[in-house]
Amino acid sequence: MKTYLVTGGAGFIGSSFIIYMLNKYSDIRIINLDKLTYAGNLENLKGIDSNPNYTFIQGDICNKELVEELFKKYDIDYIVNFAAESHVDRSIREPEVFVNTNVLGTITLLNTAKKFWETERGFKEEKKYIQISTDEVYGSLGQTGFFGETTPINPHSPYSASKASADLIVKAYFDTYKMPINITRCSNNYGPYQFPEKLIPLLINNCLNYKELPVYGDGLNIRDWLYVEDHCKAIDLVINKGKMGQVYNIGGHNEKTNIEIVNIIIKYLNENVDEKITKSLIKYVEDRKGHDRRYAINTNKIKNELGWYPETNFEVGIKNTIEWYLDNPKWMYNVTSGEYQNYYKNMYENK
Ligand code: NAD
Ligand code: DAU
Repeated sequence: MKTYLVTGGAGFIGSSFIIYMLNKYSDIRIINLDKLTYAGNLENLKGIDSNPNYTFIQGDICNKELVEELFKKYDIDYIVNFAAESHVDRSIREPEVFVNTNVLGTITLLNTAKKFWETERGFKEEKKYIQISTDEVYGSLGQTGFFGETTPINPHSPYSASKASADLIVKAYFDTYKMPINITRCSNNYGPYQFPEKLIPLLINNCLNYKELPVYGDGLNIRDWLYVEDHCKAIDLVINKGKMGQVYNIGGHNEKTNIEIVNIIIKYLNENVDEKITKSLIKYVEDRKGHDRRYAINTNKIKNELGWYPETNFEVGIKNTIEWYLDNPKWMYNVTSGEYQNYYKNMYENK
């Protein structure tokens, strides 16, 4: 029975990964180490908390003693490190915590794994550290081109700089100690349980509460949207089949400008929920500092080596996502506050 230490498993992608893995495999054990910051929410994991193969530990990946204790207690085979401060706007306002968790937390996990996995004859077989990174480490593209695994790293925000620093340290542990590692770099995820500070759930929430929809700059920045379950499938493949020391890019082949996303969400909610939700809510606001213009991913490597491709087309994925938020008012009520809760509060009061 393989034991996975999943960090940040109460967040958006980590919780989806844990649920995906426990549904797929009955012969694995998952230890979820999460600090439960504002972004961590155990409600994301309801339903699996009674699974005997699942254990939750509240704690910080920077806490060396705690991480060592977990290695002593459980024979850990894989670390899948999702734990991070993940929001670019917060990193612009408050960069230090990004360096602490994203860089120092990563090195704490690496050092502990090295201590327990390294023998005189090298690393124990079938152990692996997987770093969940981001396409933002590559910086920004112009109108054409794609990020490949060999594109030079050129991050711009404190968030992406912290993720790039972590990637370089992970790579150094492979180059120097031959520690078994993989790094995955994916594009913008979307789907259920994403905290409503990120563009798609923020738009849904603001529309439902008749709040302005803040569009940074000219609204023509481009992101490549990846459905979260497709991402989880890719990570599973990288863990089980990824070649040692390799980086794998993961993208959705869904490039959209931000204003296209805004219009898609307004249209759906206008037609299906409330005709008062219209484009009049759109408000162009000051651009994000250092705002990357375009991200797009070349996924040839993961496709050719591991047979992965994104299965969910955007029309299906965005419909599922919007409907999930509509169907889960309690979750939204619990993670929002003040006037941004009105819609969900009214739903209860009217029941
Ligand atoms: P999230 O913000 O939703 O969740 C992060 C989780 O990490 C939370 O549960 C939080 O409590 C936990 N955490 C934070 N600091 C911690 C610490 N010091 N110790 C232990 N736990 C801690 O993030 P997400 O969107 O699920 O992203 C997961 C990973 O994927 C991150 O590493 C992020 O950089 C990367 N990523 C995200 C996206 C995306 O679109 N969301 C895209 C590319 C890469
Ligand atoms: O590309 C992968 C990255 O995607 C991840 O590494 C990050 O963890 C994740 O947060 C995400 O970063 P972005 O900055 O691309 O995502 P965000 O949802 O914050 O913004 C998406 C785009 O929308 C971006 O161009 C900024 C714009 N935006 C965002 C918000 C929150 C707006 O125009 N208005 C907004 O209110």
